[in-house]
Amino acid sequence: MVAKPIVIDCDPGADDAIALFLALAFPEHLNVLGITTVAGNVPLSLTQKNARALCELMSVDVPVYAGCPRPLLRPLLTAEDVHGKTGLDGIHLPEPQMPLQEQHAVDFLIETLLRSTHKITLATLGPLTNIAIALIKVPAICQHIQEIVMMGGALTQGNITPSAEFNLYVDPHAAHVVATAGVPLTIMSLDVTHQAIATPERLHGIRAINSPISAATLGLLNHYGAYEMQRHGFPGPPLHDPCVIAYLLQPALFTTSRAYVAIETTSELTMGRTVVDRNHVTNAPPHANIAETIDVEGFYQLLTRAIAKLSES
Ligand code: BDR
Ligand code: CA
Repeated sequence: MVAKPIVIDCDPGADDAIALFLALAFPEHLNVLGITTVAGNVPLSLTQKNARALCELMSVDVPVYAGCPRPLLRPLLTAEDVHGKTGLDGIHLPEPQMPLQEQHAVDFLIETLLRSTHKITLATLGPLTNIAIALIKVPAICQHIQEIVMMGGALTQGNITPSAEFNLYVDPHAAHVVATAGVPLTIMSLDVTHQAIATPERLHGIRAINSPISAATLGLLNHYGAYEMQRHGFPGPPLHDPCVIAYLLQPALFTTSRAYVAIETTSELTMGRTVVDRNHVTNAPPHANIAETIDVEGFYQLLTRAIAKLSES
């Protein structure tokens, strides 16, 4: 089997970090061509640094690119309350030695897509600014994208406003560009990621591994979990971004439905809302896969295997 070529666009971020662990543990299944970073959970200067530090922790040599430092139209909103001042509070990683790539993330995305003889999947774990700019700059890249699998949106309740999920609220205009680009789209909304709660029982296997990677996973979850448990009353932190990677590795862990999706960009009250026509009342052709449910135990087994595998090398 040929490994699926992917680019991961992210804003690490505790759950982004764990998503990177999951993605890079299985090179036989996912060929990570590059990691592009964007401003989101913390400013770009930190997300690009964090991505490099995480690659070094995993001893993987994947090029990291810095992308857009702010959303298309709105001022940048960050989430230090959730992820801490560094974006990776709860662990301490040494200053990365691995250089940041000189090329801009948007140009890397465009060049990689246009040059590849195979279609490439984009896994997006943060605000969609880089992807939107790439689509605007060279619309022809659409034909080279296998699929965009994004963490974003809320079918029911948001987490940054009652209407909106953080990634789409930070850059709703970029999300609109992506949702209307005509590219195959799979959406991991809060409604599915909130099913993937890291309860102490589900982390049992990872705790037993006892390696720098398992310690980092637990350290991140400790910090990020405290916020999520206090704020939302969850029995542990939800692993939003790793759901995207789990879908790419093992789609059978999820059930999905097809629906038309639009993003609210004008009303301040509902800014960034994912309007999902699950009942087909608009007659607009369904163009997105919406993840509905996740096999949570299967997901944690996969994550535990990933951490164990990374810990061997
Ligand atoms: C999303 O927002 C960020 O804080 C997380 O990394 C995740 O991508 C969840 O709303
Ligand atoms: Ca993220």
